[in-house]
Amino acid sequence: MRPMLSLLDVTLSYHSLSGETKAVSHLSFSVEEGEFVTIVGPSGCGKSSILSMLAGLIPPSSGSLSVNGNIGYMLQKDHLLEWRTIRRNAQLGLELQGKLTPENIAFVDHMLDQYGLGDFKDRFPSELSGGMRQRAALIRTLAVRPDILLLDEPFSALDYQTRLSVADEIGTIIRKEGKTAL
Ligand SMILES: Nc1ncnc2c1ncn2[C@@H]1O[C@H](COP(=O)(O)OP(=O)(O)OP(=O)(O)O)[C@@H](O)[C@H]1O
Ligand SMILES: [Mg+2]
Repeated sequence: MRPMLSLLDVTLSYHSLSGETKAVSHLSFSVEEGEFVTIVGPSGCGKSSILSMLAGLIPPSSGSLSVNGNIGYMLQKDHLLEWRTIRRNAQLGLELQGKLTPENIAFVDHMLDQYGLGDFKDRFPSELSGGMRQRAALIRTLAVRPDILLLDEPFSALDYQTRLSVADEIGTIIRKEGKTAL
């Protein structure tokens, strides 16, 4: 079976006026369907760069990548739009893709109910806790039914205790939805 994600001998250098920075050097790995793989390393070691290449935002300098499915990319900041309600934030990806069908609207409402935001659908992001905001951002990412989730330290803005519980909750949600995650 073809892996969901794979990198083969990938190198990435950034070029700027001050010179060249090698962010990734001869990296190879793959992620199979349903796996939850974590990259661990110090700040600046190239984690976000790897995700950006997999998301197609920057091309590798050499080597090859393959992605076998639709990608949902969840960033460090939740990027909820403060002037839209939680429901309308969660629907944003669908709206941008022109897929705001009654079926998809019901799918989003169902996830909001299921993941503890049922009573907050018509509230604004500023009325939610950090952990609730992250759940709303995850539902927005899941709403477009990605096969693969790229999660770039989406909980790092939360305090330690909240981070533990939100990471746990989100891990459960991802397993329940049967997603492949990096
Ligand atoms: N747009 C850019 N232009 C130039 N250099 C960059 C750019 N983005 C990242 N870098 C450099 O590439 C290297 C890897 O950065 P990257 O953001 O991938 O690290 P990271 O592992 O995600 O770090 P952190 O844990 O702090 O988020 C760093 O040396 C960084 O300075
Ligand atoms: Mg990073």
